[in-house]
Amino acid sequence: MKQFDYLILGSGIAGLSFALKVAPHGRVAIVTKKSRAESNTNYAQGGIAAVTSKEDSVEAHVRDTLEAGAGLCKEAVVRKIVEEGPARIAELIELGMKFSEREINGTKELDLGREGGHSQRRILHAKDVTGREIESALLAGVAAQPNIEVFENHFAIDLITSQKLGHAGENRCLGVYVLDNKSGKVETFAAKTILLATGGCGKVYLYTTNPDIATGDGVAMAYRAGAAIANMEFIQFHPTCLYHPRAKTFLISEAVRGEGGILKTRQGEEFMDKFHPLKSLAPRDVVARAIDSEMKKSGADFVLLDITHKPAQFIIERFPNIYKTCLQFGIDITKEPIPVVPAAHYQCGGVLTNIDGETEIAGLYAVGEVSCTGLHGANRLASNSLLEALVCADRAAHKAIAHKPSPVDGVKIPPWQSGKAHNLDELVVISHNWDELRRLMWDYVGIVRTNKRLQRAKKRVANLQEEIQEYYWDFIVTADLLELRNIATVAQLIIESALQRTESRGLNYNLDFPNSDPACAQRDTVLRK
Ligand code: FAD
Ligand code: SIN
Repeated sequence: MKQFDYLILGSGIAGLSFALKVAPHGRVAIVTKKSRAESNTNYAQGGIAAVTSKEDSVEAHVRDTLEAGAGLCKEAVVRKIVEEGPARIAELIELGMKFSEREINGTKELDLGREGGHSQRRILHAKDVTGREIESALLAGVAAQPNIEVFENHFAIDLITSQKLGHAGENRCLGVYVLDNKSGKVETFAAKTILLATGGCGKVYLYTTNPDIATGDGVAMAYRAGAAIANMEFIQFHPTCLYHPRAKTFLISEAVRGEGGILKTRQGEEFMDKFHPLKSLAPRDVVARAIDSEMKKSGADFVLLDITHKPAQFIIERFPNIYKTCLQFGIDITKEPIPVVPAAHYQCGGVLTNIDGETEIAGLYAVGEVSCTGLHGANRLASNSLLEALVCADRAAHKAIAHKPSPVDGVKIPPWQSGKAHNLDELVVISHNWDELRRLMWDYVGIVRTNKRLQRAKKRVANLQEEIQEYYWDFIVTADLLELRNIATVAQLIIESALQRTESRGLNYNLDFPNSDPACAQRDTVLRK
């Protein structure tokens, strides 16, 4: 058994920021299922929202966040996160993060971008590769800390809790069973403080902007361990993912619309004026639904995003990665519009926590996309997620350092039991179930929902879960099987939450209840096993 003071699951912005804060206070392990940089963080494009200019104010950022959140944000949480953002960003800059700057009258200042739902320019960015720059600054910081050990290619399977071990009283998280992907062995990691920083669940859907790691493992593990899971019906679909048969997933940042990009039909007609006064820069839920509706009406497979009216040099300098990637697919974005479609992007709900990342299980914290703090409400304001992860990682670290849990008497963690499990001989059954689940979520639990479709999806997911459970007990576990089990659990949570919300609000749009119900404002959907 490996023993640490702090055990962190995930090496994105949440996990790495927390690690840097707790490292001076004890031994730290970071367990991460692929290579250390592989995370949603690494692909973030637009940037981090924070109040840094004289024209902006905390009040305005709070107002924009509440507006996007459609009556479900926790205002006190929003205010604290917005207030503490600038100090956390200053620390990131001190660590070595370089945000894009512009020169005004011979003085350099931060170049601030704009995205949907923001009333001000307030997005700090590193051209269009903000996430990559943040991830490498944080990883360099981690590499310089002798107290931190990183376990790459280690897959967290399940949380070990006192309740699961049959102990009465407070449910306490004691450790985690972890699969070493290379050796195939399951190891036990124990710690006094455990942080879930495993990110989101985009891979539950057939089309997503997320990389392969985003399989909702943290939410599924926490649910199995008895934690409360909130607001999973609010899955954010990003309006503009590149549409190209050879592109697996590639986001076209909202910042492109922030710099003047216009959404058009395939015939070249603007259409967003029919849906919102902010047109192409309306909040994301509105834009994604508008595109969905245009595509359904015309039968087109995509719509167009046109920024060709801007000078080519500006486009290439501001969006070098988007320019280069589209060019590889034969699209010169300085000369022709970009074919785009909506795709699953962000999980607004998650493991229910307070602003300090504390969950209902003692010793277990959750920070970043895996958590639900109340910042995002029913729809996240663009670029508020990196901000939330930075602020809440800092707050959770302070809480964990100050709180020294007493040992649980008489608890002995047993090693992982494989029983009579044998190797799965037909891997095709796993990949078939992956495909079936993701397609049915896309078709039945997507941007526009109905109760009939949700009920259908519920039945099918339950059948799949039964099969998956059999594989889980009968066969030696692999990362693919574990991820399949987790996406099925997350699918179940999304569907159950959507069925419980009998109204349309923010990202949950249900044709059977097309309006929002004032009685449901401030009411979270909370599920427990
Ligand atoms: P992640 O960065 O996703 O990290 C999760 C980590 O957990 C990974 O290391 C993963 O390998 C690991 N992990 C997962 N499961 C397990 C397991 N079972 N065992 C071990 N390790 C595990 N937000 C913004 O605010 N601004 C943006 O501009 C922006 N752009 C985006 C662009 C794209 C293409 C995408 C996909 C997202 C974007 N977002 C943006 C959202 C934002 O990037 C994420 O919400 C944020 O990075 C999440 O950080 P995190 O640390 O919580 O999780
Ligand atoms: C983007 O660059 O469009 C993504 C921003 C975000 O998801 O916050």
